[in-house]
Amino acid sequence: MGKKRIGILTSGGDCPGLNFAIRAVVSHATLTYGYEVLGLPYATQGLLERKAIALPSQGLSYLHGIDPLLCIGGTILGSLSKGDTLDRADEIIAGYTELGLDAVIAIGGDGSMAILRELAKLGNWNLVMIPKTIDNDVALTHQSLGFNSAVSTVTESLERLSFTAASHDRAIVVEVMGRTAGHLALHSGIAGGADAILIPEISFSFASLTQHIDRLREERERRFALIVVAEGVQSAIDAVNEENPCALSVSQYIAEQVSQKTKGKIETRVTVLGHVQRGGLPSALDRIMGSALGKSAVDLVAQETFDQMVAWRDGEATGVPLDMVVEQSPIVVDPHSSLVQTARALGTYVGEVT
Ligand code: F6P
Repeated sequence: MGKKRIGILTSGGDCPGLNFAIRAVVSHATLTYGYEVLGLPYATQGLLERKAIALPSQGLSYLHGIDPLLCIGGTILGSLSKGDTLDRADEIIAGYTELGLDAVIAIGGDGSMAILRELAKLGNWNLVMIPKTIDNDVALTHQSLGFNSAVSTVTESLERLSFTAASHDRAIVVEVMGRTAGHLALHSGIAGGADAILIPEISFSFASLTQHIDRLREERERRFALIVVAEGVQSAIDAVNEENPCALSVSQYIAEQVSQKTKGKIETRVTVLGHVQRGGLPSALDRIMGSALGKSAVDLVAQETFDQMVAWRDGEATGVPLDMVVEQSPIVVDPHSSLVQTARALGTYVGEVT
């Protein structure tokens, strides 16, 4: 098993923790195995344009002895959101050979995994993937890189919003990301003490929602409310309002309905957290996970075990077959899961019980 040249790339939406995974790959590959690591900028764009950055063993230049990879958010390699496609597949595939790569370690979500796996199959690449996404919808891993940090960011935002909501007796509708899945809304809603959590996996009614908020006012003297809504609920709202699907965002629509249905008794405001959820530095767990997943990805390359994803399972990094991950993703919230039941046990409205 001679010296290898590994290409590393980040694909899809960025998230906290990516630079920790890159750091671990570079460090373990170069120091433990004596391999060479090339950073491929902007995912497949790097392969297409034959652009590669040599990543030395010590990472970026140290600043006063501090490793910058520990304190930079996003991805130092740049990424493409919805940019990895099979267009120009032949040219991308040829980039692997022309850059003299023996393997690619790619950090991405389920969409990137499907496309990169296809490219790897067509081009006979040796591919290992690391799961990342604040949506946490990748199959066969208990958690994806970036999710824990995003949950912390949303939780902190809910705490901040609760004070202003309480000061004015308002219901604030907080829209969070997550694509078609409600994991981020559910986890952060529980952590941040939300009064209602609306996710695409569970249907809800405005009558029950407003009744719930009303009851909190009457019975618990909680005169404000935090309603967390996952962006994926938008499709349910659009389906109801077929004639005018795009007029309001999901959070605006919910706020308007709550206000209307209570004849203005409940004053509402809307906060869309947006890309704040993807920014900033990673949580301690994402730092640890990024490091462990990066290290294990390099070990798989060294063992020549490819077409794998390094999953985070029971607190450890372990390889799982990539075809199964692609086949089973995205994973959405199970309406009967213990976490949904936990939220309800805490008195949170999580849609209709079925
Ligand atoms: O998949 C991650 C994610 O942040 C989703 O939660 C969100 O819907 C989407 O990406 C936003 O993508 P973009 O950054 O391209 O607007």
